[in-house]
Amino acid sequence: MDNKHQSYRPPRLFFYLVSLLLLQLVPPATPKVTTHNDDAYEFKMQEALKYYSENVESIMTSSHETGSAQIETDGETQLEFASAAVDNELRRLHLLQSRLMPLRYAIDAEDEEEEEAQIDYGDVEHEAYIKSMLDPDEWYRYSYWELHAYFSCAAEFIKSKPIPTNERWRDLRDYYHEFVKQDLEDWPLQEGMSPRSYVWTNESYDPPMEPFQSGYKGRGLKAARDIKEGELVFKATNNTIIFTHGHTWRKFLFALYEREGEEEDQLDSETTCDVLVWSWIQRLVPGGPLVIVMDLDNGSLMNEGREDEGWEDPNVKCGKDNWCDFEYYAIKDIKKGEEILCDYREFAMLNAWKNMGL
Ligand SMILES: *[C@@H]1O[C@H](CO)[C@@H](O)[C@H](O)[C@H]1NC(C)=O
Ligand SMILES: *[C@@H]1O[C@H](CO)[C@@H](O)[C@H](O)[C@H]1NC(C)=O
Ligand SMILES: *[C@@H]1O[C@H](CO)[C@@H](O)[C@H](O)[C@H]1NC(C)=O
Repeated sequence: MDNKHQSYRPPRLFFYLVSLLLLQLVPPATPKVTTHNDDAYEFKMQEALKYYSENVESIMTSSHETGSAQIETDGETQLEFASAAVDNELRRLHLLQSRLMPLRYAIDAEDEEEEEAQIDYGDVEHEAYIKSMLDPDEWYRYSYWELHAYFSCAAEFIKSKPIPTNERWRDLRDYYHEFVKQDLEDWPLQEGMSPRSYVWTNESYDPPMEPFQSGYKGRGLKAARDIKEGELVFKATNNTIIFTHGHTWRKFLFALYEREGEEEDQLDSETTCDVLVWSWIQRLVPGGPLVIVMDLDNGSLMNEGREDEGWEDPNVKCGKDNWCDFEYYAIKDIKKGEEILCDYREFAMLNAWKNMGL
């Protein structure tokens, strides 16, 4: 899934923090602003408090470490704690701003060369902000969006990306098999445990589609010949891999990211972010457990269409009836060269990462 639309909306708190920051930078109109009686300030604090009570565990740990807050266990000190934590955030934001400047110039320079640049600075900035808050020692707890930020995927997807060659696909699959072997050595399967990751079938399939660059959508797939309504267009194969454990998928991403490349110490955002967005969650059987699925072949480049405003109509659907059985059929006649699009929501659970512990 070369998904450009699954973009993350920053929590509102971020904007409150930014406005708090701006309040500090812009000289006040009156000589002295007494923030205590300010309704907006009160509201921001309430929001901040809500946020901090939801994330209190990790924030307390980091605040203790930096010595920025004295925490008592009774509720009264909570507001105090929240304001200390917000101060802390503001300091981080200042830092972040200075770090972002060079990045923004780089993006602007690249921008001038692009004809129709669809660059969202906000996502990149927000991601850098999240990344600045992550503790690398806690990598095994990162959520889906924290992983997205840690690997700098928003910045990665600003670039236009080449279509992977067959060698690249093969290398990825080989590396996956190596990873599974290593993972089983690290943590052998006990009797009765089902595999944490496996290949879907031993069969291959040659789909009637080919990859191409699809304008602002990035890479996509188009029909390699005329396709009739009802025809099978794509199915899961021995290039389709399944993860039954969210953490094993997370480990795979880190393994890819830190894999030794041609250049030493080169972290591989490009591959890691690809694999991250090519992965989706679905149920293997109705009512069955959720698994993470991805195709390590051209199938991953299929873009999304929806019968909604602002989208192109889908022309392919997963499954014949209501159940997506890893087989995709044409829902209308498709002419050679037309882009293949399907509505991910029919089979993928786009917001289920938490359910996989991610
Ligand atoms: C694929 O697996 C099935 C059963 O699991 C087996 O019968 C078949 O021979 C296998 N095919 C190949 C090409 O290995
Ligand atoms: C997938 O199956 C095909 C046909 O059986 C075989 O030629 C190919 O080597 C298999 N690929 C992998 C990665 O197992
Ligand atoms: C990807 O598409 C190219 C061009 O059609 C084709 O040559 C290649 O076999 C495909 N590879 C995979 C792994 O899907």
